[in-house]
This record gives sequence, C-alpha cells and structure tokens, in this order.
Amino acid sequence: ASLANLDDEIPAPNRSQDRSRPEEPAPPHGFRNTPDTDPSLPANLAWGRAILDRVPGSTLGKDAVAAATLHDAEALDAVMDTAAEAGAAWGALTGAKRAEILHRAGDLLEARRADLLEVMAAEAGKTLDQGDPEVSEAVDFAHYYAERARELDAVDGAVFIPSRVTVVTPPWNFPVAIPAGSTLAALAAGSAVVIKPAHPAARCGAVMVEAVRVALAEAGMPRDVLRLVQLNEHGLGRELIAHPAVDRVILTGGYETAELFRSFRPDLPLLAETSGKNAIIVTPDADFDLAARDVAYSAFGHAGQKCSAASLVILVGSAARSRRFRNQLVDAVTSLKVGYPQDPATQMGPVIEAPAGKLLAGLTTLGDGESWLLKPEQLDGTGKLWSPGIRTGVRPGSHYHLTEFFGPILGVMTAADLAEAVEIQNEVDYGLTAGLHSLDREEIGYWLDHVQAGNLYVNRGITGAIVRRQPFGGWKKSAVGPGTKAGGPNYLVGLGSWTSAPGAA
Ligand code: SER
Repeated sequence: ASLANLDDEIPAPNRSQDRSRPEEPAPPHGFRNTPDTDPSLPANLAWGRAILDRVPGSTLGKDAVAAATLHDAEALDAVMDTAAEAGAAWGALTGAKRAEILHRAGDLLEARRADLLEVMAAEAGKTLDQGDPEVSEAVDFAHYYAERARELDAVDGAVFIPSRVTVVTPPWNFPVAIPAGSTLAALAAGSAVVIKPAHPAARCGAVMVEAVRVALAEAGMPRDVLRLVQLNEHGLGRELIAHPAVDRVILTGGYETAELFRSFRPDLPLLAETSGKNAIIVTPDADFDLAARDVAYSAFGHAGQKCSAASLVILVGSAARSRRFRNQLVDAVTSLKVGYPQDPATQMGPVIEAPAGKLLAGLTTLGDGESWLLKPEQLDGTGKLWSPGIRTGVRPGSHYHLTEFFGPILGVMTAADLAEAVEIQNEVDYGLTAGLHSLDREEIGYWLDHVQAGNLYVNRGITGAIVRRQPFGGWKKSAVGPGTKAGGPNYLVGLGSWTSAPGAA
C-alpha cells in the first residue's frame, strides 16, 4: 500500500520563479535551502487546490500506521533485534556513502511534497502555508545532515562511533519536519532509527518514513534501518524507551515527558528539545506595522501550537502607554480567517483536539488584573475551532506569565524600560525562542547581551527556524542533553561517541 498513491500523483509545483535564485552558484558549504512553493503563481495555486480537494477523503499513511502498531512486548523485542542488526550494517558504511543515500531521501521527500501537505492538512489540521515550509525544512534536513555525515569521516585523530539504535519520539505539531529532522540526523550519524510518531499525527510520520525508506531500499540497505512503530493505546511506552537495545532517544515534546523518560531509565542518553514560554519585546523604537504582523503570526500561526510560538508580547515605555500598538495588533489578529485547512482562505486552523485542562482554562479564565483585549470564542460544535484570544494586564510572576499553553492565546505585559522587559522575558523557566522589535542599535545590543533563550530573533517573527541559517535548540528547561542545535553544524556530533583513532598520538 505504501506507494499506491504515486500512481495518481499531483504534478509537481512550478518552482522556477521562486525565491531560491537557482541561477546562483551553490555556496561553498555545498548546501542551499530548498525553496517554499510560491503561492502567487497561478500554476501553484491550482496545485494547492488539487491537494485540498483530496483532504476530506485522504487515507495516506493509514495502512502503514495500522501495520506498525505493536501489541505486545515480544513484538517490540523483535523490532529492536532487527533494528540493532540493521544498525550495525548501516553504521559500518562510511559517512560519505550514507550522505549519498540521504541526498536521495531528500529528493524523494521533495517528490512527495503534495502527499505530505495532504496528510498534514487531513490529520493535523495544517494549512498549506504552514505545511509547505515544513516540507522544505524536512528536505533541507536531509541534504544538510548528508553533508555533515561526510565530515564525520574526516576528523583527525578521532573516530566517530555511531549508536546502533536510536528511538525518535517527535511531537504532533510539526508532524513532518521534526520527525524527519530527528530521523535523518540519527541516520546520518550512522544509527538505525525506530520512530514512534505522536499519536495524533502518526500518518504524517508514516508518509515521511515511506519516502526515506525508498532511498534506503534503492541503496540495498536492510529495511529495518528505519522502522515505524505505533503503540497500542498508551501501552509499551516505558518498554520502548527503557529497552536494552536502545542507545539513545531523541525527543521533542514537553519537559515533563523528558522527565518521564528519565524516570524510565535514569542513565538514558537523551537529547530533548522541550517546552517554551516565549515573548516578543516591542519598544517605542520598533516599526509597529512590522511588529504587529510578526507578533500575530508568531502567536497564531498553526493556532499557536508551536513550542517556538509567541505566548507573550511585552510592550515597553510609550509603546505600552499608548493604544497605538495594541490597536494595530487587534486589527491584525481579528483579520485572521479561522477555519479548516481544506478551505483555501483559512489562515488559522483548528487545534489538534478539543482543549481540556490547562489550555481550556487559558482560553476561558483570567488571572488577577487581566482582561480580554480579544476574548477567544469556540466557533463550532467540534470544540476544536477557536478564534484567537488576547489577554492584557498579565502580571509578572502570574500563572499566565510562567506557563506554556500551546494554543491560540497571547498575553500582553508592560515594562517601564527595556531592562525590565528583559527581566520579565527571562523570568520563565524555559528559554526556547525570544524576540525583540526595535530599530535602535543600542537596544538590540543590550538585548542580545541579556536575554536567555536558545533562538533569538530581531525584527522577525520567532517561529520557523531555517536549517543552517538558524540552528534551533533551547536553553534552561527548553533542552535536555548535549544542547546541540538541530539544523546546525554540531548536531550529529552529539548523536554518537568518539574514540582515538588507532595509531593516533
Ligand atoms: N523549529 C520550529 C520553529 O522554529 C519549532 O520546532 O518554529
């Protein structure tokens, strides 16, 4: 079933007039970011419509997920045994050979752009404009890590020892890019991969895995170098993580999940990108038009369901005292068209499941001193479609200030000056992304010196890191493990171990 849909493939989008500037020579590091699809080209618009037409009846990945479901510990043992065997064969290849195969995987992911967009819309509620850069990022990871794999062969006086089996546990919110990035990095570093996609987006992970497995099969590699699994209900999670064959786990998810994994196995080599509570500071020296646009996009893109999303905007000095920025922000946010991804006009889609607990409280209740600048409303009977919400009057140290909500909700805070704003920004336990909107060089310099987050953005939105240009990883409670950044030059180095080369001094 895995390749059946290729028979009636949607033709590739027209990529000739996009922003990749294909006429430019490749840069010296041998890597160029893959362009997104330019939606302003009529051919691409038709291409997008054809994808959306397939969303309601989409079955992509369904059979693969069903076939990957493990029902008992014996089935898990069998997966781990074959993965360990395949991992030994894969890790024995040179980095250069793995690089060839990963470049091919990148091309195959590109070839399935339409399928990946279809399954992301159908299963995870992703609009095309959110999903398309995610496919580009997955393709980028393949080509970028391929080149980093070659470098592992060439370190003087040291030999890189790959892991044999890496377990990848990605989240549902970037259901293609993050599973692809973790998987391709581990493969590039010479390890077999057992991937368990997050349950609400398992089909997306399955389609990504299919594409990469074709590249492995074409190269004559054992199929079990990359293995998809799904757990029956919530069983076998502990067994999967604590399995003796597992050398390493790459997790992207909540901080509590990282702690849970560590409780399963305290000595587990774990590389985790975890939670965030991210703020953008807007000073009186900002370009307010740009800032309002970037705050709105960072807060409400994919309905705020990004670890990188802006959950707070901190207004400084006169930017806080006047109504101007707030009014612009409210205008920008109320203009967002909320709906389902199969409607091409939709700018903000549904949340992954009807909110409960913390997120529901965040959408419906206010803390001391807070009021709604825009009250979130539930828009249909499913509970999944919400209009964006903005609360103002959020106080330093309050529940809203310090808690990650992971939904379409933004809080406004105020500060007398930039120093106070940065203190507020740093007061959270996490340090994932942070933004500053200011055109003043001194302010920018001060902020860069004092802010505590892994990914800093000046006069830009704070989501959507781009491979190689913006390596992505957290600080404080936003990361667990070696702290190497995805899409950056050192990521593979943290995925194996090193020993002195025989004969080296
Ligand atoms: N890499 C994503 C972003 O930058 C988050 O995981 O938005």
